[in-house]
Amino acid sequence: MRVGFLSLGVCLPKRIMANDEWSRYVDTSDEWIRERTGIERRRIAGPEEGTATLAEGAARAALDDASLQAADLEEIILATDTPEVYSPDTAAIVQHGLGCREIPTYDLAGSGCAGFLQGVDIACSRVRTGRRNVLVIGVEVISRIMSWQDRNTCVLFGDAAAAAIVGPVNGAGEVLAVVAGTEGGKAGILGKEIGGTRRPFGPEHVASGEYNRLIMNGREVYKEAVTRMTAAAREVLDRAGKRVEDVTLFVPHQANLRILHSVAEHLQLPLERVYINVQDYGNTGSASVPLALWEARAKGRVRPGDLVLLTAFGAGFHWAAALIQY
Ligand code: UT7
Repeated sequence: MRVGFLSLGVCLPKRIMANDEWSRYVDTSDEWIRERTGIERRRIAGPEEGTATLAEGAARAALDDASLQAADLEEIILATDTPEVYSPDTAAIVQHGLGCREIPTYDLAGSGCAGFLQGVDIACSRVRTGRRNVLVIGVEVISRIMSWQDRNTCVLFGDAAAAAIVGPVNGAGEVLAVVAGTEGGKAGILGKEIGGTRRPFGPEHVASGEYNRLIMNGREVYKEAVTRMTAAAREVLDRAGKRVEDVTLFVPHQANLRILHSVAEHLQLPLERVYINVQDYGNTGSASVPLALWEARAKGRVRPGDLVLLTAFGAGFHWAAALIQY
């Protein structure tokens, strides 16, 4: 059976925040952010927008794109590090919001920026065992849970949701191969600790300003990102019996322009074949890969017959890659 993407959908917060605005909150500049990250602006969720509403928006767009109804969905996998509420998971809230049948739903919580591709990996195997129309969503509203006083992290991120429906396909959109892996020994270089059972949230964390702090060893994350995304890309190509030269478009996780350039260089892929939109959205976590793929398709960068390589890395330390034949 051929399994692949039946459709894609995106939902973006209305508010666009340019780099300059960050200098109101932290000691930074447009120049520093552009030079070190390539980011120029990002979307920030407003009071009416949240993880569930953005996820639902992306899901509805993906349903429209596939000419399907919510009742046609058979499972929902939602990847996020910024859930609507602590419990239950956001997928359950989205299921109700969409008006689905009582289908199984679950979050890949804390899966970081690799979550969407991990979800695609699971969805493909679910479709192979009989499910149809599995909705995979990547969504983050990180602006609401991060510290707006920590310049090391706050300038990097943006809010967004993007989704794909995975199901049986007749050729176009087929997932030729997908790979995923985790090195749990690197869990400490990127994440958010306060609020879990190891360090339950308490008033002392508000006093110390730790309560919303993201832990990030930027340089270590950078090195891991380049190594892991490059290795995952090579592995998925090998598995499908394809070469780097066969790739028409490379759509990596949009974390940082320098990371993207470095991965492309390691793979010896010319930049004309790399899709980049980090300048407009920043790092949108698990929404990043499907958002970039959706935009590339909307701009006519994905044509019938194209071989599209997706890869991502994130907190965990998780990585994943998929190869799509359009
Ligand atoms: O999905 C995964 C999420 N995380 C990532 O992808 C992060 C990966 N890492 C990176 O992208 C880069 O390491 C950063 C963009 C985070 C940082 O770039 P860098 O070239 O590694 O800079 P650095 O950490 O070595 O910091 C250089 C200087 C430091 O000042 P000192 O110690 O040299 O005086 C920082 O304090 O830049 C300072 N700095 C800033 N200055 C202005 C850090 N953040 C900022 C800022 N504005 N926003």
